Amino acid sequence: MTALGVSGPTELPPELSLTGPRPLRGSMRVPGDKSISHRALLFAALASGTSRLWWLADGDDVVRSRAAIEALGVKVRDGAGSPGEAAVAGERVGPVVIVRGGGFDGLSEPEAVIDCGNSGTSIRLLTGILAGRAFHSVLTGDSSIARRPMGRVVDPLRLMGARIDGRDGGRLAPLSIRGGDLRGMGHELPVASAQVKTALLLAGLQASGATEVTEPALSRDHTERLLPAMGATLEAIPGGVRVEPAGALAPIELAIPGDPSAAAFFVVGACITPGSDLVVTDVCLNPTRIGFVDVLQRMGAAVEVVVKEERGGEPVGEIRAAYGPLQATTMAGDEIPRVIDEIPALAVAAAFAAGATEVADAAELRVKESDRIGTVAQELSQLGIAVEAKPDGLVITGGAPHGGLLKSHGDHRIAMAAAIAANACEGESTVRGWRAVASSYPGFAADLASVTG
Ligand code: S3P
Repeated sequence: MTALGVSGPTELPPELSLTGPRPLRGSMRVPGDKSISHRALLFAALASGTSRLWWLADGDDVVRSRAAIEALGVKVRDGAGSPGEAAVAGERVGPVVIVRGGGFDGLSEPEAVIDCGNSGTSIRLLTGILAGRAFHSVLTGDSSIARRPMGRVVDPLRLMGARIDGRDGGRLAPLSIRGGDLRGMGHELPVASAQVKTALLLAGLQASGATEVTEPALSRDHTERLLPAMGATLEAIPGGVRVEPAGALAPIELAIPGDPSAAAFFVVGACITPGSDLVVTDVCLNPTRIGFVDVLQRMGAAVEVVVKEERGGEPVGEIRAAYGPLQATTMAGDEIPRVIDEIPALAVAAAFAAGATEVADAAELRVKESDRIGTVAQELSQLGIAVEAKPDGLVITGGAPHGGLLKSHGDHRIAMAAAIAANACEGESTVRGWRAVASSYPGFAADLASVTG
């Protein structure tokens, strides 16, 4: 099998130069939420009928999920945005993607290896789907994906009856999946993970008997919100969720709200850059995603959220942020899953705060797109900040960061955190490896330029 190629955006420059400080002002929107976009595409592929999805995230990760369902035989096309189609999304007329699902049995054996690129959500969610399909498929990804733990999804799927193999006994990608009959069962996750939870729920939809998933702390719950809207039977249980097998899913019409994890970089940027006053509109305000607002408010930041509507079971609205002095804080325990993707941005806020900010119970950061404990520590040190890296977290002593030469380490969130830090610092800085932002936010530099004038 040869890998199916997906051409990512190549027009991004290899490095970004910034001169600061430049205040962030005015109003902006960010791309559609990445987690919801993956789910909307993958669930629409399983639905019986045509789904319409507006404002899907435009980064390479979600392009990989789209290419994967196409490789599995699902027809996907970009819509013309006819008036009838636009009306469904109210005022949010914009790009629409049309997915023609043929039900679970509509998926067919892919001719080639499916390449998930840098996208952990694609490879883990697809593993859960393909575990229940009676054909052979192989999932792979880039050098970062090749290092990320897959045993956490492979082991419980094997217990349900799936035949999955991979490097290191199935702990690492590429994964080879020969799907088939699955048994529903209870799973107790050792680590809170929405990717693993979702993979098991997707397998559970195809199993005989109910499947239950409990986790030590609540991770993002977009799956639990979206699947019932498509007709699946999900029920909250203590510490988790139970899903019943589903013969079919109904198609959806959904305008994806903006990504709070993308908004977090601009919100932090506004909090640390004198003269800033910014509003990010049409953002998903799901409580499992906006822990960073609580953290910034604890630090004394002028940040507010206003819920304006509900869409696809998700609260949606605005986040306002303005510059002000910040105090150190602690992030630990059950709060960690609610801020896991925002820790690079919050670490930048900590670098500008008075006192020592501590992040604990966050060993998961070591197995993200990069080892984010190591890469955050390295990049903040480049800015002249004292950082201690611990096995499960960081201690960041705030000060007066200066600009410099920064690196993305191939990680989109490290690249964007470096850019907002550099934007707040005096003088010129460079972020090397800038193309990493293509995973989630190819237009980040243009959006930063538009709010900094
Ligand atoms: C995601 C879950 C989280 C998060 C990732 C997206 C999702 O990963 O870090 O960026 O969409 O389900 P884990 O499930 O590994 O915690």
